Amino acid sequence: MKEIHEIVDTIICGDCLEVLKDFPEDKVNLIVTSPPYADNRKKTYGGIPIKKYVDWFLPISKELQRVLEPKGSFILNIKERAVNGERGTYVYDLVLSMRKQGWLWVEDYVWHKKNTYPGKWSNRFRDVWEHCYHFTKSKKFAMYQEAVMVPVGKWARKRLAKLSETDKRRNESKTLSGFGKNVSNWVNRRHVYPDNVLYLATVCSNKNHSATFPIDLPKWFIRLFTKKDDIVLDPFIGSGTTALAALELGRHYIGIELMKQYCQLALDRIQSFHQKNGYSFGLPNTKEERLDDIRLEQT
Ligand SMILES: C[S@@+](CC[C@H](N)C(=O)[O-])C[C@H]1O[C@@H](n2cnc3c(N)ncnc32)[C@H](O)[C@@H]1O
Repeated sequence: MKEIHEIVDTIICGDCLEVLKDFPEDKVNLIVTSPPYADNRKKTYGGIPIKKYVDWFLPISKELQRVLEPKGSFILNIKERAVNGERGTYVYDLVLSMRKQGWLWVEDYVWHKKNTYPGKWSNRFRDVWEHCYHFTKSKKFAMYQEAVMVPVGKWARKRLAKLSETDKRRNESKTLSGFGKNVSNWVNRRHVYPDNVLYLATVCSNKNHSATFPIDLPKWFIRLFTKKDDIVLDPFIGSGTTALAALELGRHYIGIELMKQYCQLALDRIQSFHQKNGYSFGLPNTKEERLDDIRLEQT
């Protein structure tokens, strides 16, 4: 079993199931990842068959559960494809199986890809969103909601200028949905809490990896679920986007990737980040020593 200081701020090249077995328990604060989707991208990094997907993933999620600290979170970005005119159900089967494994399924954030092209399908419309499932090990998990607040928006100026009597007290919804609001709570607020949909463009410019996610996706979850110097793990790190997001926010990263050329790509991106920005963790060694230290571990 490795010590945590031996694996932070490294990209480890190998199968995450095997690599994770060497990680110590309860040390990672956040896991953000996008695994290969079933039957997708067979030509680039292989796709797990739909029927085998849950069985393939569960031993990995078991290890992730072990390495995650008790108040940590796991964000799983995934989407089921349509096959023979029907949406697949393997993602739903996976969520149910992970609950049986002991995970709490807290939320399903939606990544709405705002830069997709229009298209024509015979039985559905353009698919423009993916799940970002939020799992935890306990009901009391770390969450820093203030870190992702958004500007209140122009609507507030007009709406809040003249409040009615009903606006000044909690007004229950007339549909009996159980929702209620007190509009006067927003007076003088410059920022409000966001909703659970992230509107982020897909990345079309990364020619070296076919499925990178936009850096603002991991960044949003890193802000929400970690604080400075916490440890963020991506067990399917591809081109290293999660590591860069963690670095830019002053967190530590651990990345695992199966394909050598993507490990190298991730390392190249991390190195150029350090060359531009120096080292943000105040480590005692020099920049040159640290660059030597960014290593490709072979398992
Ligand atoms: C959807 S991509 C992740 C892309 C990444 N989010 C990015 O922004 O570049 C999934 C990655 O998982 C890698 N992969 C597949 N099976 C793996 C395994 N068993 N262990 C580690 N990595 C694996 C693939 O090579 C691929 O790069």
